[in-house]
Formats: sequence, C-alpha cells, structure tokens
Amino acid sequence: MPRLTLHANEAGPVIDRHIFGHFAEHLGRCIYDGLWVGETSAVPNVRGWRADLVAALKQIRVPNLRWPGGCFADDYHWRDGIGPRDKRPRRINAHWGGVLDDNAVGTHEFLDLCEQIGCEPYLAANVGSGSPRELREWVEYCNASAGTLADERAAHGRRLPWKVRLWGIGNEAWGCGGNMTAEYYAGEYRRFATYARDFPEAPLYRIASGAVNDDFRWTDVVMRDAYKGPFSGTAMMQGLSLHFYTVPGPWETKPTATPFDHAGWKLVMATGWKMDRIVRGHRAVMDRYDPAGQAALVVDEWGAWYATEPGTNPAFLYQQQTVRDAVLAALTLNVFINHCERVRIANLAQVVNVLQAVALTEENGGRMVLTPTWEVFALYAPHQGARRLALHSDAKFSTHEGLDYPEVSATASAAPDGSITLTLCNTDPAAPAEIALALTGRRLVLADARVLAAPALTACNTFDQPRAVATKPMSGVRVAGDTASFSLPPGAVAALRFS
Ligand code: AHR
Repeated sequence: MPRLTLHANEAGPVIDRHIFGHFAEHLGRCIYDGLWVGETSAVPNVRGWRADLVAALKQIRVPNLRWPGGCFADDYHWRDGIGPRDKRPRRINAHWGGVLDDNAVGTHEFLDLCEQIGCEPYLAANVGSGSPRELREWVEYCNASAGTLADERAAHGRRLPWKVRLWGIGNEAWGCGGNMTAEYYAGEYRRFATYARDFPEAPLYRIASGAVNDDFRWTDVVMRDAYKGPFSGTAMMQGLSLHFYTVPGPWETKPTATPFDHAGWKLVMATGWKMDRIVRGHRAVMDRYDPAGQAALVVDEWGAWYATEPGTNPAFLYQQQTVRDAVLAALTLNVFINHCERVRIANLAQVVNVLQAVALTEENGGRMVLTPTWEVFALYAPHQGARRLALHSDAKFSTHEGLDYPEVSATASAAPDGSITLTLCNTDPAAPAEIALALTGRRLVLADARVLAAPALTACNTFDQPRAVATKPMSGVRVAGDTASFSLPPGAVAALRFS
C-alpha cells in the first residue's frame, strides 16, 4: 500500500502555468482541417477557427500555443502568410508529405486563434533557411507600435501590436533545422538573438533550440557559448529547449497506439519515465552555467509517438490514444512539476490530429472527440500558477527492459485560494493501488475527487463512442481525521481537491 504524506505547510516554487502548453504545426491535419476549417465551412467557426475545439482548449486553460513548427518552422517565411489570402503563395510542405500549403493561416490568423483561446502565442522563428533580418522584421511586424512594418500590419487589419513575448530561435538545429553542430548553432543563436529586438512594452523571451533526449553535450555547449553575450556578459537567452518523445521500441518498427498487451503498456511507462532522468541531466548542466536558475528548460516537444493509424497518410502522424497515454501524460507532467524550478514552459506534441493530441476531428469537418490526454490536462489545470507542495511517497519502482518507473506517481500544489490539489496515477495495468494519504499542517477536508480509468486498457474515444474513456467522480474515498485512503484503479489518473 503506497503511503503518501502531503505537507500543506511546505509550499515550494510556483508551478508555471506554461508547462501545460501545446503545439500546433503545419503538419497533417493539425492546422488545416483540424483547428482551421475556414470561414465558409459548415463546421461552426469563428473567423475560420473551429469553435468546439477552441472551447475545449479554453476549458483546459491552454496557456500558450507554439507555431508554426517543428521542422516546418525552419522552412517557413512569415511574409508568405500576410495580406489578402487569395494572393498568398502556395508552398510545398517539404517536411510533411509534400502537400500544398496555401498560407491561409498566417500571422494574423494564428494570433487571432491565440486571442480566441486566451493563450500566449509562442512563435518559432526560421533560423535554418531564414535570416536575422527576416526574424527582426517579423518581431517588429508583431510588436512595434509605429513605423513602416506597423503601418503594413495596420493595413492588413491589425492596428495595435500583439506584443508577442515567446520566440523560439530555430527548431531542432541539430537536425531538420539545419543539421548544425552545437558550436555552430551557438554562434548562429547569438547572431539571430541579437536581431530579435525588444520593443517598448514588449520584451522578448528568447528560447534557443535545444537538445534531443539525453544529448547533454548540446546543452553544455549552447549554455557555455550562447547563454551570455561574449563581451557584455548579460543573458541573451531566457530559455533553452529540449525535445523528448516516448517512442516504444525501435523507430522503424514502433507499434500503433493499439492494440497492446501488458508488456506494451509497461514499455510506454518505462520509456516515458526516462523524461525524469533526462530533465535531471539537462538541469544539472544548466545549473553549472546559470546557478540562479534564470534560464528555463523549455520542453517544447513531448508525448507518445506511435506508428500512424492504418489507412492514414504516414506523413500526417495521426494516431489514436488510450488511457495508457493519459497515464504517460500524468507521469510527464509530474516530472515537470517536480522540476518546476527549472522547467517553466512545455508543449505537448501536438494539439489536434497529430501525435498525442488532446482532440481528434473527423476528416473534412464533422465530429470531434476529446482524448484521454485532454482529460489529464483538465485534471491538472488547478496546478497552473499554484505552489508545489512537499509530498513524500514510499511507492515502489517497477522495472521493464532495464528501465524503472514509479508504480504510483503523485504531485500536489496549493492554489492562491488555499485549495490543495493532489494528482496521481497508477502505472500498473493490472492491479489497483491502495493509497494511504496523510495530510500535515492542515485539516483534511475533501472537496472533490475525480478519476480517469478505462473499461479496457485499449479502449479509445471514437466519433461513435466519444466518451468511452472519460473522467468520473471518484467514490470510496475514506477520510478519518487527517488521513484518507482510497483505491486507484489499474492504469488510472486521479485528482483530489481539498478545501
Ligand atoms: O512534432 C513532429 C516533429 O517532431 C517536429 O516537427 C519536429 O520538431 C520533431 O522532430
């Protein structure tokens, strides 16, 4: 029986709401025929953006959305996406299936989407095939209140600057973003970041393209050579990114999201929990160059990556999902919360119809389903901006293929209104976890308890059965004084709130 002791009086750092961010790339049906249906679509929309999806994203309080890539970003030229839509060029999306992109979605449209959701935009700028001038002008176009570029923006319908704060300086510079060495990229970063200018009331948060997986050397070189200006000694970077995907098995033979057996379940848990070791490693390197913890570790791509669903375009990365992915999401968010001193932004890949999406839509409009991962973001929403609480757990670790992962993983926080949220997951696919919880420093008053479990481990939300895997009220929580006990079903995620 795992025993958890939650210390209500030991509040730690604030959990930045931006670790619950999302990612939208011009890839498959994420933007086009996903978020964007167009103004003339029969699907209800607001200025082209799908209304039911926007409402679902508002519901989980999406704090930021990264765009336009991904690999696409280093092939994207922002001027293609402004001005009258019928005059915009049609470009080949070289990374993702060679489909034509008519640039119907450009800067104005994307920033309108962010305003509809109520989230901050996170723009990924082109370093691989772009220029410092192109980046400089994109920043000015978005953020300046006067000048020729501000006039051009106004002529295209937007007088006030958007004041976009979050800017990525390239993406996967070691790969699709230019095949650079860390040393070469660090030099490029300094050059590009110099011309990503602050405008009055719009200081930028510059995020360098970071490592993949456990490439700690990349982090070491980029922090050493680009964190601070060579002569000024002032910070040139506010964040350094990291990409880690949970790929179960060898890349070439990775399975589809379903079916799977218990071994397949455990492989996802064990692979996903690598995130903990990877974050620790990058954090330790960053601590050496930035002991004050000013630069954030920005995990701006994470999630499960399976083989695409049979019958779909393999370049579109469309996959189904199950409660296994929900547990993976909970495990990963727990890692971010546990490392929130350094991890202050993260982006699940990707928001709809691509990889571990929070929603799936039918082709060419029609119905939409929310995925089990959406449910996890809803359960975790109270952690946004709350203070992490000290939590001691004696849960054991399981081992699969030489990789360990916790049998039960939990995090807790205290919100400004005083309420406490405890989130936890049971990574065992077969046995329930009997939890004994003790709360110190406060009376235990249970306000709400919800659990996400599935009728079968491989059950999916489909257009015909959209709520097969859904959160339900959790019964059977027994409270006695300052302790509580409850049973977590096999392969489940839960959130308990104490007032
Ligand atoms: O999210 C899909 C792709 O994965 C992104 O375009 C790229 O950055 C990463 O390799």
